[in-house]
Amino acid sequence: MSAQIQHLACVRCDAIHSPDEVRYRCDCGGTLDVVHDLEALAGRDLLGLFDDRRSSRVPEDRSGVWRFRELVLPGADDAIVTRGEGNTWLYDVPGVASRVGLDGLQLKHEGENPTASFKDRGMTVAISMARKLGLSRVACASTGNTSASMASYAARAGMQAVVFIPDGDIALGKLSQALAYGGRTLQLAGDFDDAMRIVEQVCAAEGIYLVNSVNPFRIEGQKAIAFELLQDRGWRVPDWIVLPGGNLGNNTAIAKGLSELRALGLIDRLPRIAVVQAAGANPLYTAWTTGADVVPVRAKTVATAIKIGSPVSWRKSLRGLRATDGVVTEVSDQQIMDAKAWVDAAGVGAEPASCATVAGIRRLVDEGVISADSDVVGVLTGHMLKDPDAVVGYHMGSLPGIVSTHANAPTKVAANLAAVRAALAD
Ligand code: F0G
Repeated sequence: MSAQIQHLACVRCDAIHSPDEVRYRCDCGGTLDVVHDLEALAGRDLLGLFDDRRSSRVPEDRSGVWRFRELVLPGADDAIVTRGEGNTWLYDVPGVASRVGLDGLQLKHEGENPTASFKDRGMTVAISMARKLGLSRVACASTGNTSASMASYAARAGMQAVVFIPDGDIALGKLSQALAYGGRTLQLAGDFDDAMRIVEQVCAAEGIYLVNSVNPFRIEGQKAIAFELLQDRGWRVPDWIVLPGGNLGNNTAIAKGLSELRALGLIDRLPRIAVVQAAGANPLYTAWTTGADVVPVRAKTVATAIKIGSPVSWRKSLRGLRATDGVVTEVSDQQIMDAKAWVDAAGVGAEPASCATVAGIRRLVDEGVISADSDVVGVLTGHMLKDPDAVVGYHMGSLPGIVSTHANAPTKVAANLAAVRAALAD
């Protein structure tokens, strides 16, 4: 199976490990990278192959992850567990562009994945890997989307899913999914960072396969966001890719995927990556601006998906940011919710964490980091219906600490024609 995967390499000490053993960290504690045999792929018309697969009827070709399998997990073959993930829309959003001060803006909506978040791209690979390794139990800690995705893919694969979520602070849509797909759901009396710490211990003690993004194969699947985004654009590289940062797996993955395409000569330059954190959950932003290592914080934000104070992939994330001449910024909850109102009103819609992307673009344009004529793609990471409480709370003016600048509250009206006409004339 590891025909073209050379090995796993430690991000901290460069030690090398076999890809065929269950391992998430190096003996030194560092996280691991999947290293592909890029030399074996050199000279192949991979972009042509990826384009041809888009019109194939074979499920693995139609999947927006497995379509790129040579650069994701070569040789997975019969172990593949797919729900046709990816194939998400790249929207032109002129109304949002003018709000953020850009001439134009594209948003790749990863909320259009099978379980309504970008997590499905990494999860199809992690669950396929679990099947390949002959494992029957998988687990993750989650702010909600990873657990929804894991529970679904585990059910498809006939595996038991064990979900660790923070007690409270998980959006209703996500909790519903974990329960509905049959995940054994443990609501931990703590936050995401507590859950993350404990799930690593539980998986080691119980021999359960850990599918958080500390699992290097999750990252391989998430790279496909970058591949598909470029494919949507006829492989034209944008100036910027902007996305929210929580546990920092996603920006790590996108930078890794792009660097591999560049190393193969399939693209001639790298876009710059901007990671946007919520100001109440900003350890990467602090590390970036001070030049220090990440120091955990106690996280607090309305964007519960990224309410993470101790991100697992920070070292890889910083490496990717340096490689792409990237930047990190932070935005307030108010800015996130106002940006969400723009994205929602454009008819696109996304959950709060996703809209940190748009709030971050606005800030970076205001600061002159992104120029108005730049070619910018923002990633929306989760569907609007993941967090209906945030939507209704905003429009009803009942979200604590948030001013509902763009409220669109319902009007109560008597059930007769005159009353309705009077309301419409208002
Ligand atoms: N956006 C959404 C909607 C998310 O669910 C997450 C992470 C992120 C952004 C941040 O991505 O962690 O790769 O930096 N959600 C995880 C979860 C933590 O458990 O669902 P990241």
